[in-house]
Amino acid sequence: MKLPILVAVAATTSLVAFFIIGFLIFRCLKKPTARNNKTQEHQNTCLHFSIEEIRTATKNLNDSLIIGNGGFGNVYKGHIERCHAPVAIKRLKPGSDQGAHEFRTEIEMLSRFRHPHLVSLIGYCNEGGEMILVYDFMARGTLRDHIYGSKSPLTWNQRLEICLGAARGIHFLHAGDNDNKRMVIHRDVKSTNILLDENWVAKVSDFGLSKDGPNGSTHVTTDVKGSIGYLDPEYYVSQWLSQKSDVYSFGVVLLEVLCGRAPIKSTVDKREEILVAWFKKCFDEGKVDRTVDPVLKGTIKIKCLMKFVEVALSCLHHHGKQRPLMRDVVMGLECAWNLQHSGAHVKGKGKSEEEKEIGLKEIEGESSSSSKGTTITSTCSEEQQALVMAGGVS
Ligand SMILES: Nc1ncnc2c1ncn2[C@@H]1O[C@H](COP(=O)(O)OP(=O)(O)OP(=O)(O)O)[C@@H](O)[C@H]1O
Ligand SMILES: *[C@@H]1O[C@H](CO)[C@@H](O)[C@H](O)[C@H]1NC(C)=O
Ligand SMILES: *[C@@H]1O[C@H](CO)[C@@H](O)[C@H](O)[C@H]1NC(C)=O
Ligand SMILES: *[C@@H]1O[C@H](CO)[C@@H](O)[C@H](O)[C@H]1NC(C)=O
Ligand SMILES: [Mg+2]
Repeated sequence: MKLPILVAVAATTSLVAFFIIGFLIFRCLKKPTARNNKTQEHQNTCLHFSIEEIRTATKNLNDSLIIGNGGFGNVYKGHIERCHAPVAIKRLKPGSDQGAHEFRTEIEMLSRFRHPHLVSLIGYCNEGGEMILVYDFMARGTLRDHIYGSKSPLTWNQRLEICLGAARGIHFLHAGDNDNKRMVIHRDVKSTNILLDENWVAKVSDFGLSKDGPNGSTHVTTDVKGSIGYLDPEYYVSQWLSQKSDVYSFGVVLLEVLCGRAPIKSTVDKREEILVAWFKKCFDEGKVDRTVDPVLKGTIKIKCLMKFVEVALSCLHHHGKQRPLMRDVVMGLECAWNLQHSGAHVKGKGKSEEEKEIGLKEIEGESSSSSKGTTITSTCSEEQQALVMAGGVS
């Protein structure tokens, strides 16, 4: 009676054990080689490209594959076989001179940077007088296009998420927390250098190359109109570059995102032409609501807005020393994100009051007194707030 059951149990047990052991052995054998191959491919074979490969990928640099152009030259979308995913191919304008050696070493360094919020530089080609950079292709294009460009505008929650992602990417560069333990200043933070992948994840691009680029000059900022609205005034006067210059530029991006317009806009009233000056003036007059992108009307919670504005203005402080570090900017934006997303974090207060989405009109009377005093106490620790307000440490 009991014997058949025992046999059956023993049989299934050993069968299961057999499968488990088999699976473990299989995994141990399989995993290391698969992993090695992948990383090797990324770091070695997918770094230097021949001009033939580039020509094949871009149908002989066919104009129909151009997706944009900037100070550096045309940008093509292409497929390089051994890179699997589509790539963005940036070709230096023919005829420009180049510091080929410096350029090459810089690329070899930067292409090793990996972070979820950086557009990876995959490789380069410097054959036959060409200077070509190959990046991961970002399917949704630039942040600018999705705020006041050709594409449909983003919601406030999407914008917050993107700002936070971009801040994390820049912080990674500044922190020097990479293989080379090297701190990198981006030098060209702006809304066209924050790209979006197919999942709307923000990725910072074009970092670290401007210093050692062609001819040792600023190849990514030659589009003066595009970058001039982002320039740290202190750096402009003193030529003294630090990571705080990136912080300033990022502050300009934050205002673009909030106000839904370009840093410099010649089609408006003279007093409104320069975004930073106009915004600061409106803030002082307690009229921040007037600057907010009309499509965001009624979707920003007031505490979130106040925190966001506080972070942006701290980035835009005239003196670099007073500006926060990117680390503090990340914390400030996390705080703003929390204030927008959850009433649950608010202790002791009525949920309905906290969660109410306040119409922008309602800010007007309140903002001059409360924004300046910044009495936001919910969600964010005092440490976080103190850091942002004091302009960071060191
Ligand atoms: N990795 C990428 N994926 C998808 N599109 C890209 C990528 N890199 C660039 N582009 C597109 O190409 C355009 C030009 O980029 P590029 O970096 O050359 O100029 P820019 O950032 O507008 O200005 P600047 O030359 O001053 O940096 C971008 O606006 C964007 O639309
Ligand atoms: C790893 O690469 C070697 C040779 O480069 C190849 O023979 C092997 O099949 C690869 N392994 C995997 C799992 O792709
Ligand atoms: C570019 O490609 C299109 C079709 O994809 C073709 O008609 C055209 O001739 C090509 N141009 C050049 C310069 O090769
Ligand atoms: C690069 O520098 C060299 C001299 O250092 C100069 O002759 C050349 O015109 C420069 N090229 C560009 C594109 O500025
Ligand atoms: Mg760019």
